[in-house]
Amino acid sequence: MNRVGLAVCLACLFLGLPVGAAEPVKFADELYAKFQHPRCLTCHQFNSRRSNGKVFNSHRNRFLCDNCHTQRISGMPRGEWMAPPEAMDYTGLGPEDTCKLIKRNMGSSDARLAAHMLDDPRIFWALDNGMTPAGKFPSAPGGSADWLRAARAWIADGMHCE
Ligand code: HEC
Ligand code: HEC
Repeated sequence: MNRVGLAVCLACLFLGLPVGAAEPVKFADELYAKFQHPRCLTCHQFNSRRSNGKVFNSHRNRFLCDNCHTQRISGMPRGEWMAPPEAMDYTGLGPEDTCKLIKRNMGSSDARLAAHMLDDPRIFWALDNGMTPAGKFPSAPGGSADWLRAARAWIADGMHCE
């Protein structure tokens, strides 16, 4: 391997990319499927009337989440277990529209969205935990390792929606 190749591979390792990856990485490739997992979707639907979110049926309460989703259950600090506003419900959107929506919701700032995807505690609860006051629900297949690999590759490739 020549010096340039070596430098490229070190960058790949740093970003967690498969060595030699040259194909552009699209949102539709892997990330979209993760967004469709019920652990993500159910929370994003929480305040959405259109999707009959939980606040309109099983929950009927927009506050005091931590009383039941305690720190021990959610694995995150108090105050972090919360549902997004109705505008963050991406139910029914295809890959391109989901991607555009999440960019818009993060103020069209790719940097903010990238940071969110790499360290939001709720995302990691959905990927690795899944514990609720009624017991453990299935977490997303592949867990955070698979998510971080796909997210880092997409971010490194420029975060394209198309
Ligand atoms: C416990 C509820 C909850 C779960 C579970 C959850 N989220 Fe979120 N999500 C939120 C909240 C609250 C925000 C808004 C956070 C903010 O504004 O900083 C958010 C924001 C986001 C955003 C930024 C903008 C937007 O419109 O969506 C993305 C992207 C996102 N979540 C993806 C995911 C993915 C992917 C999963 C599953 C792997 C997931 N979320 C699981 C509550 C949740
Ligand atoms: C009175 C106790 C209680 C309170 C308060 C409560 N929850 Fe829940 N929550 C539960 C129980 C029990 C479950 C599991 C059964 C179910 O899905 O409804 C659950 C499940 C959920 C789920 C579904 C998780 C999944 O992936 O399927 C979400 C999202 C959720 N709660 C969000 C919230 C939010 C946001 C709040 C605060 C606005 C809140 N909860 C307040 C008891 C509570």
